[in-house]
Amino acid sequence: MRFFPFTGTVWSQNILSLIYYEGHRNETEKTETIDRVPWLEYNFNKMNYGQRPSPRLFSSHLPYYLAPRGLKNKRAKVIYVARNPKDVLVSYFHFSKHAFIFEKVQDFNILMERFLAGKVLASSWFDHIRGWYTHRSDYNILFLTYEEMKKDLRSVVLKICNFLGKQLTEKELDIVVEKSIFSNMKSDPRSNYEDKACILEKGRDNFLRKGTVGDWKNIMTVAQSEKFDKAFNEKMKDLPLKFIWDL
Ligand code: A3P
Repeated sequence: MRFFPFTGTVWSQNILSLIYYEGHRNETEKTETIDRVPWLEYNFNKMNYGQRPSPRLFSSHLPYYLAPRGLKNKRAKVIYVARNPKDVLVSYFHFSKHAFIFEKVQDFNILMERFLAGKVLASSWFDHIRGWYTHRSDYNILFLTYEEMKKDLRSVVLKICNFLGKQLTEKELDIVVEKSIFSNMKSDPRSNYEDKACILEKGRDNFLRKGTVGDWKNIMTVAQSEKFDKAFNEKMKDLPLKFIWDL
């Protein structure tokens, strides 16, 4: 699974792990999401990736040009989740205020300038999505958006199951959807990365904050929003991708 940060990575990790473990069967409910769908580039828990049983599920923020060659030529399945970049930026802003691993930027305007210039974690949002989208024919890839997940999670879970060739019963599907709803994930320590509290300072005890579409309206001024739109329209004009900015 590929994502730019703050796009719904933890959410999608949870969904995928639930699909493969069919709503947490066979004691897998005792395993943290991060161990079922670990990071390609971080290996938080020092796992031996070579010994992972098939199917091997991984998450990643990597741009397409750093992705393992083994993913190419459709030898693996890739799910790319995108989110409207104004909400990505706002999520980044709030998260960075409580994370040890980020430089704290109190001024939203400064972070927005850095975001538009690609000087943030995982570099440029625009290059990230462009790279994966324009090289999509090299991969067996399913493009999804955070917004469609918010609109109709059940349909997205079904879409993922079809892409992966996983058949769940109606009941299993219900469990996956139920356990992936924002409020349920937020109260589940294994789904919300609570064990990774070492990354976050007190006052922000997990990765799930608000989980909505259009939160950018609560923080961006009209001038900031217009400046963002201008940059977005210039950088994305040749890509046929449409985003939902509010729900
Ligand atoms: P907000 O900060 O806007 O709330 P990532 O995991 O890629 O860092 O993305 C984090 C964002 O995904 C946060 O957005 C978080 O709240 C949101 N998120 C995580 N789980 C979610 C869920 N089940 N439903 C909706 N949003 C979710």
